[in-house]
Amino acid sequence: MVRATRRNQTALALDPSHDADDLSALRPRPSPGGQSGTAAMTSETKHLHVITWGCQMNVYDSGRMADVLAPLGYAPTELPEGADMVILNTCHIRDRAAEKVFSELGRLRVLKQAREAQGHKMVIAVAGCVAQAEGAEILARAPYVDIVLGPQTYHRLPEMVARASRAAGAVIDTDFPAEQKFDFLPDAAAPQGVTAFLTIQEGCDKFCSFCVVPYTRGAEASRPAADILAEARRMVAQGAREITLLGQNVNAWHGDGARGLGDLVRRLADIDGLIRIRYTTSHPRDMDDDLIAAHAEVPALMPFLHLPVQSGSDRILAAMNRKHTADDYRALIARLRVARPDMALSSDFIVGHPGETERDFESTMQLIRDIGFAQAFSFKYSPRPGTPAAGAGLQVPEEEKDRRIYALQALLREQQTAFNAQCAGLIIPVLVTGPGRHEGQIGGRSPWLQPVHAIGPVSLTGTVVEMKVTAAHTNSLTATLEQERACA
Ligand code: SAH
Ligand code: SF4
Ligand code: F3S
Repeated sequence: MVRATRRNQTALALDPSHDADDLSALRPRPSPGGQSGTAAMTSETKHLHVITWGCQMNVYDSGRMADVLAPLGYAPTELPEGADMVILNTCHIRDRAAEKVFSELGRLRVLKQAREAQGHKMVIAVAGCVAQAEGAEILARAPYVDIVLGPQTYHRLPEMVARASRAAGAVIDTDFPAEQKFDFLPDAAAPQGVTAFLTIQEGCDKFCSFCVVPYTRGAEASRPAADILAEARRMVAQGAREITLLGQNVNAWHGDGARGLGDLVRRLADIDGLIRIRYTTSHPRDMDDDLIAAHAEVPALMPFLHLPVQSGSDRILAAMNRKHTADDYRALIARLRVARPDMALSSDFIVGHPGETERDFESTMQLIRDIGFAQAFSFKYSPRPGTPAAGAGLQVPEEEKDRRIYALQALLREQQTAFNAQCAGLIIPVLVTGPGRHEGQIGGRSPWLQPVHAIGPVSLTGTVVEMKVTAAHTNSLTATLEQERACA
C-alpha cells in the first residue's frame, strides 16, 4: 500500500503545522485521501518514504510526487530506514514549522550514512515551501541533501532524480515555470478512501502582511474545469464519495473565465456517486453571490465552511492588508446563514500581529462571541523573513502573545464543546469512512466534519447513514445507527 506519511498533519485549515499554540488537538482528522502509486513490487522496486508537513495542498502534492515516481519503480514505504529515497514535503508558514525540517534532516543524515556504509544510496529530497523559501540555506546547513525542489516543479522530479544519481553535487529547482505542473503530472492514482482531496487552484496574489504563501507558492493560478471534473470522476469511480476542493484561495478559482467556484460546485454535484463536496481554504473577499447561492441550492455542498478572518479589529485587519473589516465578515456570515441555516463556521486567528493592542485583541474576542465557531485554528504571530509585518515596529512581546492565545483558545474551545453538545440527541446523516478504532465500530463524518463513531458493519463504508448522536465529546460524536439512507 502506497501512502505518504503525514507528520503533524491536521484537518481542514491550510496551516496545520503543529505549534503548541494551535488548537490542532481539537480538530477532526479525516483520512488522508492520499493517492496511491502503482509501482509493482519486484526485485527492481525502490523504496520511497515521504514525510509531509503543512496544509492539505502538501498532502495532495505528496501523493502526486509518489505517482510521478511510481513508473520509475519507486513504491512508498512507511519507514525511512532502508528507503532509497526520502522526500520531505515542508511548510514555511511559521518559524517552528520550518525548523522541524532541519531536525528531521539531522536524523536522516545518520540513516543515509548507515546506508552508504552498506553500499546503498539514499537520495534525500526537500520539497515544499521551505525548499522554495530557503533552498540555498538548506544546502548550506545540510550538504548531504541531494535535491531541493519548489512546489511548482514536481513534474520535473524524475529528471531531477536522474540528475542526482549522475551528479556529484545537489540538484536545485525552485523555478516558477511557465508551464503548470498539473498539465505535466500523470493522472492521480486511486484515492485510498471514501474522502479525497482535489487541488483546483494554487498560489495567492493577496499578500497579507504576515504570510509567506505568495512567495512560496507564487501567483494565483486555477486549473481548467474540464481537468477538475475528469479527476473528480476518476476519484468517484475509485470509491471517493466526498471530495474536498483545495486551494490557497480556493474561492478565487476562475478556471473557466467568468464562472467561479459556485458554478464548478454545481457541475461537480452532477457527478453520479459524489455525495459530498467541500472546499478549503477561502478568503472572505472572494465569497461571491453565486457561491453563497450554491450553498442554498446544492445539497451536496456541506454546511461547514472554513473562512479565515485572522482578527476582529479593523485597525489590525488593515495592517494585515486583508481588505475587509470585521463587520464585512459579520455581514458575510449572516448571508451564509440565511442561505444555509445549519451552516457551521471555522476560522483562523492570529494573535499578536505587530501593533495589536489589548483593545484590538478584545475586538477579536468580541467577533468570536458574535459569530460562534464550531471549531477554529489559532496561532501566535510568527515573523517570517521577507514579509512586510516581520520588519514592522511594535512587535508584541512573547508573554503577551501567550496570554492572548490562552484566552482566545479557551473561548474557542468552549464554543466547539457547545457546538458538539448541541448535536446530542439529533439524528444526523453520517458518511461512513471505514472501520472505527474499536472492534465492531465504524467511523464517519457528520456534515459539519465532526468525526462520528458507532457500532455497525464495515459494509456501510461509502454510504450515508442516519445516526442518532448519543454522546458529544470535545472532538467527536458517539452515535447509534438509525437507518441506511438511499444514496449514491
Ligand atoms: N489562504 C488562507 C490561509 C493560509 S495560511 C487565508 O487567506 O486565510 C493558514 C493560516 O496560517 C492563516 O490563515 C493564518 O492564520 C496563519 N498564518 C499565516 N502566516 C502566519 C504567521 N506569520 N504567523 C502566524 N500565523 C500565520
Ligand atoms: Fe496568505 Fe493572505 Fe494569501 Fe491567505 S490570502 S495565503 S493568508 S497571503
Ligand atoms: Fe505551509 Fe506552504 Fe501550505 S507554507 S501551509 S505548506 S502553502
